[in-house]
Amino acid sequence: MNSLRQKITFGYYAVGTLIVGLSLFAFVELRLIENKILAGGRISEFFDATLEIRRFEKNYFLYRQAADMSETRRYVLQAQALLRENHGVFDAIASAARIAVLQDELAQYTVLMGEYESLGDAGTARTEALEMRIRKAGKEIVTLAEEIARTERTSLQSSLDRHRRVLVISIAVLVLAVVVIGQLLSRRVARPLKSLEDNMEAVAQGRLTQLERESDDREIASLTHAFNHVLQELELRQTHLVRAEKLAALGTLLSGVAHELNNPLSNISSSCQILMEEGDQADPAFRRELLGQIDEQTIRARNIVRSLLDFARDREFKTEPLHLAQLFEETLRFLKGQVPARVMIATEIPPDLLLHGDKQRLQQVFLNLIKNAVEALEGAGEIRITARRGRATGDSAPSGKGAHFLAFGRCEGHGEVVDIEIRDNGAGIPPEILPRIFDPFFTTREVGKGSGLGLFIVFEIIEEHGGCIAVESEPGQGTAFFIRLPLPAGEHHA
Ligand SMILES: Nc1ncnc2c1ncn2[C@@H]1O[C@H](COP(=O)(O)OP(=O)(O)OP(=O)(O)O)[C@@H](O)[C@H]1O
Ligand SMILES: [Mg+2]
Repeated sequence: MNSLRQKITFGYYAVGTLIVGLSLFAFVELRLIENKILAGGRISEFFDATLEIRRFEKNYFLYRQAADMSETRRYVLQAQALLRENHGVFDAIASAARIAVLQDELAQYTVLMGEYESLGDAGTARTEALEMRIRKAGKEIVTLAEEIARTERTSLQSSLDRHRRVLVISIAVLVLAVVVIGQLLSRRVARPLKSLEDNMEAVAQGRLTQLERESDDREIASLTHAFNHVLQELELRQTHLVRAEKLAALGTLLSGVAHELNNPLSNISSSCQILMEEGDQADPAFRRELLGQIDEQTIRARNIVRSLLDFARDREFKTEPLHLAQLFEETLRFLKGQVPARVMIATEIPPDLLLHGDKQRLQQVFLNLIKNAVEALEGAGEIRITARRGRATGDSAPSGKGAHFLAFGRCEGHGEVVDIEIRDNGAGIPPEILPRIFDPFFTTREVGKGSGLGLFIVFEIIEEHGGCIAVESEPGQGTAFFIRLPLPAGEHHA
């Protein structure tokens, strides 16, 4: 049985069969008892007849009325007929020998009565002796009949008792069966559903892990399959969106680069023009200087293009020694074109601060955070970027003391770290959405403006570097993001 429907149907059939079986059994038992009662009626009729025999016998002995005699005979005949016609009933209650005795006694009784009637006269010793014999025979008949009637009553009583017991046991068995089948069914049906629910719970919390096949039931298997398919789609879309986010960041960089390339290119161009104008008359030293400048500017332009290529390439996670101050300088240079004039950006980073990381990815982190800060400033305000060396003591939070402070990621390590803080005095984040800002696709921006992947990617990259991130925000006051990155032991000086 590998389908829920089959299991439930089986459960129904099992209970149904049990009920029908028990009902049939009770019905047969009732039929038996009914027969017993009918038999009891016959037997008590017989017993009554024997009592009547004795009553009219007594009357006849007292008053000698012919009518009493004929009544006695009539009842004897009736008793004999009852015995004959219902021998099955009597055989079931009394032994064949006993019934034979009864039949003999009745026959004997008839003979004795005949004898007595033919004597006619009363009072003689013979009649008295006959009377005695008749009384004795009558008494014996009644005693036997009474015995049979009593046996029949006890047998009926015990049948009823047995029936009652059987009924009670049947009900108990039925209740037990219903409970057991119910339990089995609910276990077999509910357990896979429950574990499916638990797995889905995990998915709802953001872990896009495929569900294991928990049960062979067809319905559960196809549900799991369908769910896994949805997960696959979701994962695929997430990857697409992460790529799209990266492209968006690339766009930002591109405009920065275009802006940035302008300077070296115009320097090169003007140096070239001067050289062309001066021709051969130029002072060799001045020519050398101009050529030196062209070379320098070309290198500068090449570096800009290279860092753009670096950023665009989807390469393996690769760490290298990085000067944090330089990294920020470069990132800010790229962003220059995007920052409104009334937004001030101040940095306070020790120039010798060296860390190990993936240049392109860390650049994306800073780019995303600064872009968010710029957006929060809505045209005017200040962004302060500070960094300092520190020592982690194993407490997860890099910094922060405000009321609305939340730490994300693992920061359990001990040792040298660098703490980076990016603070703006913009709109701030309402406390109720603060825990969700790192969720993928969470955004408060207008539709089409933000993908909500910025901070999600920041979080992923920081985790990749073994670091952690925290955020502190006060609506109306501003927001600060704290990043803690581990420093390689003994290598944090330039
Ligand atoms: N410095 C900040 N000040 C105020 N709110 C912020 C700040 N940084 C992030 N947020 C809030 O967090 C949300 C999520 O940010 P995230 O960078 O993940 O996505 P986004 O900026 O909306 O979209 P995207 O970065 O993909 O363009 C933002 O929509 C914004 O509400
Ligand atoms: Mg953003």
